[in-house]
Amino acid sequence: MDALEIEGPVRLDGTVHISGSKNAALPIMAATLLAPGESVIEQVPRLADIAVLGQLLQSLGARVERDGADIHIDTTKIDHPVGEYDIVRKMRASICILGPLLARCGRAKVSMPGGCAIGDRPVDIHLRGLRALGAQIHLENGYIVATVPPGGLRGGPIFLGGPFGSTVLGTANVMMAATLAQGRTIIESAACEPEIADLANCLNAMGARVHGIGSPRLIVDGVTRLTPVRHRIIGDRIEAGTFLVAAGLTGGRLTLTNCQPDNMVAVVDRLAHIGVAVEARDDGCVVRRTGELRPADVTTQPYPGFPTDLQAQFMAMLALAEGNSVITEKIFPDRFMHVAELNRMAANIRKEGPCAIVAGVRELIAAPVMASDLRASAALVLAGLAAWGKTVVHRVYHIDRGYERIEEKLNAAGARIVRKDL
Ligand code: EPU
Repeated sequence: MDALEIEGPVRLDGTVHISGSKNAALPIMAATLLAPGESVIEQVPRLADIAVLGQLLQSLGARVERDGADIHIDTTKIDHPVGEYDIVRKMRASICILGPLLARCGRAKVSMPGGCAIGDRPVDIHLRGLRALGAQIHLENGYIVATVPPGGLRGGPIFLGGPFGSTVLGTANVMMAATLAQGRTIIESAACEPEIADLANCLNAMGARVHGIGSPRLIVDGVTRLTPVRHRIIGDRIEAGTFLVAAGLTGGRLTLTNCQPDNMVAVVDRLAHIGVAVEARDDGCVVRRTGELRPADVTTQPYPGFPTDLQAQFMAMLALAEGNSVITEKIFPDRFMHVAELNRMAANIRKEGPCAIVAGVRELIAAPVMASDLRASAALVLAGLAAWGKTVVHRVYHIDRGYERIEEKLNAAGARIVRKDL
């Protein structure tokens, strides 16, 4: 199994090109189900999760081909509207085919995703939203079975808030299904994430009528058909945020291209507090450390708040900030698997309920560590850049799910990382 051996400490200096956003590309690939014909999605990162969604679309009857950074998806023939367990179990985000498949075929059967290392991750709000559009839904042998009533899906007011705020893929599913429903759907407490805005823009380019993009109140006026599209995916703000931390943690300086600092206001604010300056440029930004790392309190929230997908990476950086930091996780209260692994590298972090108290240490020391999920593994790689000695991060298949050639990008900026089969 692949592992990354990281020799530290290093000081990063260089330019990193940010890939297309994984979490925008996944629902946008699913959206092509709504428009029979060939769509071309540009700037799609080469990631394990993208390959799984491609496989899933193929299993439904679509033709999916990669051409460099583009993916061509031909959805002329969708004759098997079933998201099989064997594919869905590899990636929870597979649930994003449910809404478009239902709207396109009038019926859909999708394996119910299970939990994962970061928590239970229910899909009750997705189902509540689709039911509000008139879908009939029941569970059968671990599958969600959904059908459209005889008169078709009907728009109406839908509240999508849950105990942890909005839901990203729940909003994607309901918005996609609503594009082909009759009448007007008003989604309240919609997710405002830039990935949802990218999806809405893509849907509009297909002929949908979505208004209020980027706000918690999305208005979708149903249309009778959508047409194939050519759409370029936005830069990945979580990958960008990970490299911002890499520069901060190593006391280095990086230029990031193909990223939008406007999408990372909460992150840039926390970085400034910690002592890491981000300066916007035409197509990206320059990030550099301005002094010693300072402690900070970080609370994850739905966008535009601080993203849960950068919580672990910030924890790795705050482990080296003199003083105490409190990290509060308000999206996935159990997303702290990285705490024990960072402590194996001589960090001093204590978990208390949905919080982690990080007492800064002077240095981290290399150790063999185990990746538990995508962002936790990124945090361990970052810690390895700053730690003394050779850190080995095992189970890096987690990182390959969401970071395109992370070791090549870091090595080009001065890191010393070798991929090994251990
Ligand atoms: N929730 C419910 N019921 C639902 C749906 C969600 O209670 O029906 C809860 C979740 O358990 C969680 C909160 O609502 O507490 C927010 O979850 P959300 O639905 O927004 O998460 P998601 O759409 O499944 C996406 C990203 C995640 C990211 C979260 C939060 C994709 C493919 N995944 O997941 O990304 O952490 O939003 O921002 O877009 C990652 O890339 O590493 C990753 C995990």
